[in-house]
Amino acid sequence: MAAEVTLRRFELSDVDAMMAWASDPEVAAFCRWEPYESTAPLLAYLRDTVLPHPWFRAICVAGAVVGAVSVSPTAERCRGELGYLLARAHWGKGVATAAVRRALRAVLAGAEVEGLARVEALVDMDNPASQRVAEKAGFRREGVLRRHYWHKGRARDMVIYSFLATDPLPECE
Ligand SMILES: CC(C)(COP(=O)(O)OP(=O)(O)OC[C@H]1O[C@@H](n2cnc3c(N)ncnc32)[C@H](O)[C@@H]1OP(=O)(O)O)[C@@H](O)C(=O)NCCC(=O)NCCS
Repeated sequence: MAAEVTLRRFELSDVDAMMAWASDPEVAAFCRWEPYESTAPLLAYLRDTVLPHPWFRAICVAGAVVGAVSVSPTAERCRGELGYLLARAHWGKGVATAAVRRALRAVLAGAEVEGLARVEALVDMDNPASQRVAEKAGFRREGVLRRHYWHKGRARDMVIYSFLATDPLPECE
């Protein structure tokens, strides 16, 4: 399975594929947004946020778009924040882990993001699958940031992970 995982830039025509996860309450549960009910606002998000984003990639399995992975700028130039999600039909097959490994190689070894020294991931304490993805991809667990993140009406405890540009890059099958 992992051998088939590739990353590419998004295109406007990916909106229908995105709807598979963007409309899913289970995917949205740990994300900032609420599930999308129609493609028009998702198309606006794709056009206004995803396409101009410095590093936001589609996760593809055998060429089909099944998820997204991003490394977003933070207040510090040396630090980028990782995000990832996957359509539910593809969970549990190692796809997110393979995608995160490829993302690390691209942004750290590929010099696609200038000055980046640290990629960090903030993962909800109640999202063990996502914690496992970060760990399998080679991130170091640094601790728990208590009541760090205001999420859908509650202050959440977040596990913070980091991967440094000097860490050994993960192998990609
Ligand atoms: C989190 C997410 C990206 C994982 O994608 P995935 O492709 O299924 O992940 P992988 O298959 O690479 O790895 C998942 C790991 O979590 C484990 N896992 C899954 N559910 C689990 C649970 N409830 N408790 C503990 N471990 C769990 C799996 O067993 C697997 O570990 P293993 O390989 O050691 O067995 C996907 O579930 C998703 O998109 N969730 C919604 C969005 C989200 O939460 N994004 C992350 C925000 S930080």
